[in-house]
Amino acid sequence: MTPDLPSTPPRCYALVPCAGVGERAGAGGPKQYREIAGRSVVAHTLDALARVPRLSATLVILAPDDRQFETHAPASTAWVARVGGQSRAASVANGLGVLVERGAGDDDWVLVHDAARCLLRPEDVLRLIAACEHDAVGGLLALPVADTLKREAAGERVAATVDRRGLWQAQTPQMFRLGLLRRALAAAGDGVTDEASAIEALGHAPRLVPGALENFKLTWPADFALAERLLRTRA
Ligand code: CTP
Ligand code: MG
Repeated sequence: MTPDLPSTPPRCYALVPCAGVGERAGAGGPKQYREIAGRSVVAHTLDALARVPRLSATLVILAPDDRQFETHAPASTAWVARVGGQSRAASVANGLGVLVERGAGDDDWVLVHDAARCLLRPEDVLRLIAACEHDAVGGLLALPVADTLKREAAGERVAATVDRRGLWQAQTPQMFRLGLLRRALAAAGDGVTDEASAIEALGHAPRLVPGALENFKLTWPADFALAERLLRTRA
């Protein structure tokens, strides 16, 4: 009997949801297009991903009426699709469909990364890939919670202290097989705020890969000045 030929190794794709409105960041338009340290937020993000040779391609998901991306990321060679949805989960699910149209297979890996996490470093991505590429499920960058946690009661008073042991903050990229992630998001619907929670809902246990504090998501108004300082002091 002829032994099975080795199949082609799975490819890795990056998928960047970039279709949000940035409500919590306050005035100034969608946060992914705000300028920090000389370039837009998403231009920094795409530059970090472009420096990971292991990624076969990066697909950016824009809102259907986006008129800003090409102006704010002029040097990007990423694929672009204007298929953003009403929620982050919908934008990602639509983007996975575009990857399939472009030839990605069920066994290929997809690394979903927020456009708004512009302090990502290529070495973080490499660590995630190394930890997950032989894993049955996949995983995500995350940080063990450092601070003591409080649950709020009415009127910004403390109702309770929450035991932080065993708690992690989920970051991105989050890396899963395309086929599994599509099924998971289709079943989970719009409510999930990351890919891992959709995978968990199918009964799987994604791997937690220690991330970096700097890879925070620009969310609140004050985050932009902090990101600017960090980017300007990088070698
Ligand atoms: N995102 C998306 N499609 C949506 C909502 C969010 O592609 N319908 C993207 C954002 O552009 C961002 C990432 O998902 O890069 C993470 O989401 P978040 O930080 O929540 O961004 P926004 O939804 O834009 O911000 P906010 O929740 O404060 O409105
Ligand atoms: Mg949001």
